[in-house]
Amino acid sequence: MRVPWPVAIACSTVTVAAAAASQMHDDEIRSVGDGASTSSSSSAHVEARQASGNPAVDSFIRRFHPSAARLGDYLYVDGGSISRLVNDSSQVRAMNATVAIPLNEAWTNQTLTMREIDRTLLPNVNLPVLWADPAGNALYTYGGDSIGTNSTYTRAQQYFKFTPAGGGRDGSWSEATPADAFKFSQLYKPARSAFTSCNGVGYSLGGYAYGGTDDRFSGADSGLPLAGMATYDFATRLWDNVSLADAFSGGNSAGGMPGYYPTNGAAVCLPDLGGAGALMFFGGRGLSANGRDSVPLQLNDMLIYDIAGKRWLWQGTRGADGAAGVPRHRRDACAAVGRGRNGTYEV
Ligand SMILES: *[C@@H]1O[C@H](CO)[C@@H](O)[C@H](O)[C@H]1NC(C)=O
Ligand SMILES: *[C@@H]1O[C@H](CO)[C@@H](O)[C@H](O)[C@H]1NC(C)=O
Ligand SMILES: *[C@@H]1O[C@H](CO)[C@@H](O)[C@H](O)[C@H]1NC(C)=O
Ligand SMILES: *[C@@H]1O[C@H](CO)[C@@H](O)[C@H](O)[C@H]1NC(C)=O
Ligand SMILES: *[C@@H]1O[C@H](CO)[C@@H](O)[C@H](O)[C@H]1NC(C)=O
Ligand SMILES: *[C@@H]1O[C@H](CO)[C@@H](O)[C@H](O)[C@H]1NC(C)=O
Repeated sequence: MRVPWPVAIACSTVTVAAAAASQMHDDEIRSVGDGASTSSSSSAHVEARQASGNPAVDSFIRRFHPSAARLGDYLYVDGGSISRLVNDSSQVRAMNATVAIPLNEAWTNQTLTMREIDRTLLPNVNLPVLWADPAGNALYTYGGDSIGTNSTYTRAQQYFKFTPAGGGRDGSWSEATPADAFKFSQLYKPARSAFTSCNGVGYSLGGYAYGGTDDRFSGADSGLPLAGMATYDFATRLWDNVSLADAFSGGNSAGGMPGYYPTNGAAVCLPDLGGAGALMFFGGRGLSANGRDSVPLQLNDMLIYDIAGKRWLWQGTRGADGAAGVPRHRRDACAAVGRGRNGTYEV
């Protein structure tokens, strides 16, 4: 079966150049037409909405590489960087607050007030894994590219838990504790994994590790792919690492690239599919085992994980007008899912 693309929403237009040299750090690129940039006319409202430490209206450029997750009545945005114009060149600093945006009240881009929550305990990172656990009323964060050098972050095996307060408008971060510390200590902290939470478990597919995520990779000049899917069960606090061999060692699909592993993708949870839900992964790129080559993962063949069956599947897709309607490959995109009619999902 081939699945049509009825709705495709992407918030990043960055596409992958085939076999591009791997770019591990985020140089600020202030290019016209960059999907993530913000014009200075809109920045007046950004400043009004989020006061502390904001660049002035005329110098704000953009916010980039944050992660976002919904919990209860709020959308939480954490990690990432903010850039401003200083004497004609851009200056970047890490976002130093977790931002809470209410979803239970009406607002417009003129009236929204974003609440800032202290995150001084957390490392400054781009695109951290951010998982929501609605049953336990908590968020978890793990990994991400270090912004600047932080040996506390790259040396330590740590992840963090957010407990909301005040109905979600406030809250606090604390260090979380795994039930099996030894197993957790064996996992490498990822950058650019595809993550989502689904029915009580957090998933982090692939990504890469290097000296900016994990000291055990400090000798590597480029990132090396993490050839597995890390999982974290919120209730039991157990971590695991699911093999990707079945998905990535075949020879008959986008996944049929022996020795290449997924990075820079996006993921969504389809909670009712299969016996225990399914995960759907979007694009990104395949990084070779030695970290030197990458190839785009096309969206005409998408990776799905059946949670109950512990099975990897490749699902063909097509546009309404055939292959031409399939969105172009992309990396570091965002993906969202909503319920459609008759038990379907709109992704
Ligand atoms: C606010 O939203 C309006 C209506 O959608 C839009 O026209 C306008 O450009 C937005 N303004 C900013 C500052 O984003
Ligand atoms: C974030 O950093 C800016 C600039 O250094 C500072 O003005 C602001 O108070 C900081 N905010 C928090 C929540 O730490
Ligand atoms: C910007 O340039 C002016 C003139 O060269 C200089 O005096 C000023 O210190 C610069 N500002 C910063 C923040 O570098
Ligand atoms: C470094 O990371 C630790 C947590 O791993 C954090 O507490 C600390 O604030 C970070 N420091 C900087 C400068 O980012
Ligand atoms: C999971 O296991 C694979 C295969 O052994 C390994 O390559 C990968 O680094 C592991 N993942 C993490 C996050 O440590
Ligand atoms: C929903 O399913 C019913 C029964 O199969 C069908 O008659 C109906 O057309 C479907 N509705 C939509 C919007 O697909």
